[in-house]
Amino acid sequence: MTPTGKANATAINAHNAHCILLNLKLFPLPRAGRGIVRMKDNPFSRLAGAPQQNYPWTTSDELLYMSDSLSFDRIADKFDATRSYPDETWSAVIEAIAGALDKEKRILEAGVGTGRFAGPLQAKGFNVVGVDISARMLEKAREKKVENLFEADLRALPFRDHVFAQTISIHVLHLIKGWKCALAEIARVATDSFVSVGFMKEESPAEEIRRLYDEACKQLGFAVQHQGVRERDLPELLPPDSEKLIVTLERPVDVQKLIEDYESRTYSQEWSVPDDIHAQAIQAMREACEGVETVMGKERIVLLVWDMKRIRKFSKGEEPYRT
Ligand SMILES: C[S@@+](CC[C@H](N)C(=O)[O-])C[C@H]1O[C@@H](n2cnc3c(N)ncnc32)[C@H](O)[C@@H]1O
Repeated sequence: MTPTGKANATAINAHNAHCILLNLKLFPLPRAGRGIVRMKDNPFSRLAGAPQQNYPWTTSDELLYMSDSLSFDRIADKFDATRSYPDETWSAVIEAIAGALDKEKRILEAGVGTGRFAGPLQAKGFNVVGVDISARMLEKAREKKVENLFEADLRALPFRDHVFAQTISIHVLHLIKGWKCALAEIARVATDSFVSVGFMKEESPAEEIRRLYDEACKQLGFAVQHQGVRERDLPELLPPDSEKLIVTLERPVDVQKLIEDYESRTYSQEWSVPDDIHAQAIQAMREACEGVETVMGKERIVLLVWDMKRIRKFSKGEEPYRT
């Protein structure tokens, strides 16, 4: 059930059923239109008909990963507010992505979230289809009038081979334990290029404060880490075909707000930190920052583009999850 209630869910289901029927006749993939195609409702999904919380093809380890405890559902309400950028910076990011995409072709946004990229790109006339595993993030995107949304796992995409030309994926691969499976799936469904944006945090006082959390956890015996690879670190494993600086952003960061965001576990790498260690790490941040109101943060924002053939080769041998 979506947070917006039963009536809404019924409307979405009716809409999806209509789109799916239409689609089966006309298109190689179901059209979500203004609704969200759920995993179990999607005729091309390997999960079609399966209860959503019961994935028969997972091992118990994978099932744990896919449980709600690691879902972005938990921060859907505050996601946009805690990841905001000045308007002119965001416009430059959207323009740069748009410049790497082809309006005539179908584009997949893998891990579309609340539609921060898909929304403005659709408004510019790009044919973007968004996929995400989090129903609540998708619901937020739908509230913002983002269209063509599919609830699915990137490691088992519910689409036929080669139905997309390009894929965008931003801030997603670090969350996925089988991130190479996700890449293999992306390279199966898309033909031309893989586009991402690296938000590279530069050395700065704000970065030092962020690091305090990880360091405190480490001292207490817990290594804070991602289960996948950040897109911004992918160039170290597979150099991109093109890399272009979009903007360098220096801005003041409100220190108490930063600590509050950490305290409420806004960032996914904090989600597996045990409560007692988390509490002590926050205390360490507070003590180190006592009396400090704002510090400067610095970020380099970079457009990264890979030829999909190289992504395919790189992820070859990673069998996508199958039923
Ligand atoms: C940090 S958010 C980024 C969302 C969006 N790309 C953005 O930058 O605004 C990561 C998104 O990836 C989604 N995600 C994580 N694992 C996924 C998976 N296995 N399949 C599909 N989506 C996944 C999360 O639900 C979340 O919405």
